[in-house]
Amino acid sequence: MRTLAVIARKGGSGKTTLCVHLALAAHLRGRAVLLADTDVQRSSNQVLKGRKGDGPALVETSGPKLFALQLAALREGVNTLVIDTPAAIEEEISHAIVAADLCLLVIRSTFLDLAAAIQTAEIVRRLRKPALIVVNQAPVSRNGVEPPAVKRALEALLLMRLPVIPIILRARAGYQSALESGRSVEEIDPGSEATREISELWEFVETFVFGRESVQATR
Ligand SMILES: Nc1ncnc2c1ncn2[C@@H]1O[C@H](COP(=O)(O)OP(=O)(O)OP(=O)(O)O)[C@@H](O)[C@H]1O
Ligand SMILES: [Mg+2]
Repeated sequence: MRTLAVIARKGGSGKTTLCVHLALAAHLRGRAVLLADTDVQRSSNQVLKGRKGDGPALVETSGPKLFALQLAALREGVNTLVIDTPAAIEEEISHAIVAADLCLLVIRSTFLDLAAAIQTAEIVRRLRKPALIVVNQAPVSRNGVEPPAVKRALEALLLMRLPVIPIILRARAGYQSALESGRSVEEIDPGSEATREISELWEFVETFVFGRESVQATR
């Protein structure tokens, strides 16, 4: 089993959107997925409650209960555990980071998000966990040219000395509407740019945590 913790000190950066999309991406590719919602807002639960048909399992829990949850998940044959976390509460986030094989820091390309991310990056480093940055809600590029805000953000992210995943999630209405019915953009609009982003992102993350050979064997 591999555990992914999706974290950000800043509220609204897209943790829940990313968690649900990663959990659904894994589910749609046949993995046994559990989404652990450790945020008292229970947004991941709200989203998946609206889903019709089968989907990832979801449990409402809290940081201190994650270790027991991991043991139970292992016994039940879960192979992908995704943890949604609350914004800002360092202690709660720390539990998720400790539990994780990989932390994904979700960051928007704005000054305030970047400033807040410095502290999140510091916690991850202190806990010695592998972490990758996911840039989310970035303005779309025109003719392959990045908007100046995104260029500046990518430069600023270099200072955090954490690798940035080269697949940037853009601000797209599709991400919002998909979650209204508990579905992924991959299910709603297979030919869309959002689907391309999520498919590529999942492939990147899956290869990182499970290894290339293991991923190829499941295809
Ligand atoms: N790539 C995107 N494009 C468009 N809208 C997005 C995108 N990612 C997230 N959003 C929207 O931004 C808002 C915040 O997203 P989300 O709830 O996933 O963030 P969060 O980090 O989980 O927030 P919180 O800190 O409150 O838990 C939501 O309205 C969501 O639909
Ligand atoms: Mg959330």
